[in-house]
Amino acid sequence: MEQLLIHTLPDSVLRQPTAKIGTFDADLADLIGAMRIAMHAARGIGLAAPQIGKSLKLAVIEFDPARFEDENPTSPLTIPFLAVINPTITSYGREWEVLEEGCLSVPELSVPVPRATDVHVLAMNPTGQRIRLRAKGLLARILQHEIDHLYGRLIVDRTTDKKIRKRFA
Ligand code: NI
Repeated sequence: MEQLLIHTLPDSVLRQPTAKIGTFDADLADLIGAMRIAMHAARGIGLAAPQIGKSLKLAVIEFDPARFEDENPTSPLTIPFLAVINPTITSYGREWEVLEEGCLSVPELSVPVPRATDVHVLAMNPTGQRIRLRAKGLLARILQHEIDHLYGRLIVDRTTDKKIRKRFA
């Protein structure tokens, strides 16, 4: 598979509805592998299928602090590679936290975004088995961000910064 390009605003593919995945085959595994490579190349920690021009319910997530040593040399946190397919958030914790967030599809922008500090997610893995994730902190935030992408929602819609919301509305 050729190197995937990351689509950025105002590309309409970022706003389109996504289809559920029903076939868990080698093509899906190849797509997931290509998305992982594109995520690494762009120095991202999450990438959703609409961002590479595919309107599918699929996202990949990974945080390997060794890749970001120059930015964050002391991070104790690691998130092993994870592909989530047809995910839904089944519950949100009571606490919310506002933190600066960026997105590969909105280059050069970092804006405050409120997210639940913990979520439960039901999804499928690349072999079509159901997985249940109970996530906190950074993983909870990334999951909410990536699942937003599958519904055409971006940080510019979620931010508490009204000027940014207006500029992108
Ligand atoms: Ni994003």
